[in-house]
Amino acid sequence: MIKIIEPKFTEQEAKILSDIVLSGHITRGPWTKKFSEAFAEFLGVKTIYTVCSGTTALYVILKALNVEAKHVIVPALSFMATIDTVILAGGIPVVVDVDEYYTMDPNQLEEAVKKYNPICIIPVHLYGGMSDMDAIMDIANRYNIYVLEDAAQAHGASFKGKMAGAIGHVGAFSFYASKNVPMGEGGAISSSDESILKAVNALIDFGDSPALNVRITEFQAALGFLGLQKLDQLNAIRIKNAEYYNKHLSDELIKPKQRENSHHVYHLYTLRHKNRDHIIESLKKENIDARVYYTYTLAGLRNALHLPLDNANRYINEFFSIPVHPYLAKEELEKIVSVINSSL
Ligand SMILES: Cc1ncc(COP(=O)(O)O)c(C=O)c1O
Repeated sequence: MIKIIEPKFTEQEAKILSDIVLSGHITRGPWTKKFSEAFAEFLGVKTIYTVCSGTTALYVILKALNVEAKHVIVPALSFMATIDTVILAGGIPVVVDVDEYYTMDPNQLEEAVKKYNPICIIPVHLYGGMSDMDAIMDIANRYNIYVLEDAAQAHGASFKGKMAGAIGHVGAFSFYASKNVPMGEGGAISSSDESILKAVNALIDFGDSPALNVRITEFQAALGFLGLQKLDQLNAIRIKNAEYYNKHLSDELIKPKQRENSHHVYHLYTLRHKNRDHIIESLKKENIDARVYYTYTLAGLRNALHLPLDNANRYINEFFSIPVHPYLAKEELEKIVSVINSSL
């Protein structure tokens, strides 16, 4: 089976995890500190707080921003955690459409901002591609709204030279097993905003106020640290694989577009075609994994307030993602292209 996502580790990681076990220092240790500092430097932010998942990162940030009973704008396409954490934190989600890059449409965003006066906007850098952060930050600054970047799929992506997760007021990352930096489970909160950092810290550090235990273990932190060292190199292979598909797949398919002045890291390579179910069937017959991210809009999923979602409602019936991970062999890429082109 050619898997859609395949994290791979080496003897180097195995040796370090074994050393951690034998040291007995399995949580709250030097690896967590090392990883947080390295990731903060990589992004160019003041502080990284590690947490146990991307969902936890989003939830803690939304609690810290005090979104209760206030509107929060999310794009129509994302993993469900993006909207569920808004609801769990007591906020009222408002869903806006996506543009041709599959990220939040800034024109609709401004309409929604005027109508709902939100406290927070959550752009999602879907599939590793950047949202239009110039337009989003411009609206947020004019209306005085927090921007929380959901960068769970965008480790190493950037917009005009600034890293995903370091452009808005605060960012959320996931290190789930399938992500570009895999820890198994894990998450991070990135920010340079002192007041947000203080409010987040109060929620995750037991002390003066009620808090949650969201810690990661040293095993996770070590995998994160080592994954970060390899990230640029592995992202470069993802990009090369995507370029191969762009060149060799039939132009009958709608291929992913890269926003100008941005660096796409192809967490997923997602195509569109009206007969996608037939294409997925053909791939499955040849033992090639292909999946639909996502079969729903967040508005449909949680019956949320929304603006017209013409693009997203069309895209969810056309999307399919194919393997683009950095461990694909040349023959596997060739096989995927040949199966897809001959299924059309
Ligand atoms: C866009 C997005 N946001 C949030 C999450 C949640 O992250 P986690 O699975 O680590 O809780 C994910 C992960 O799947 C994601 O893709």
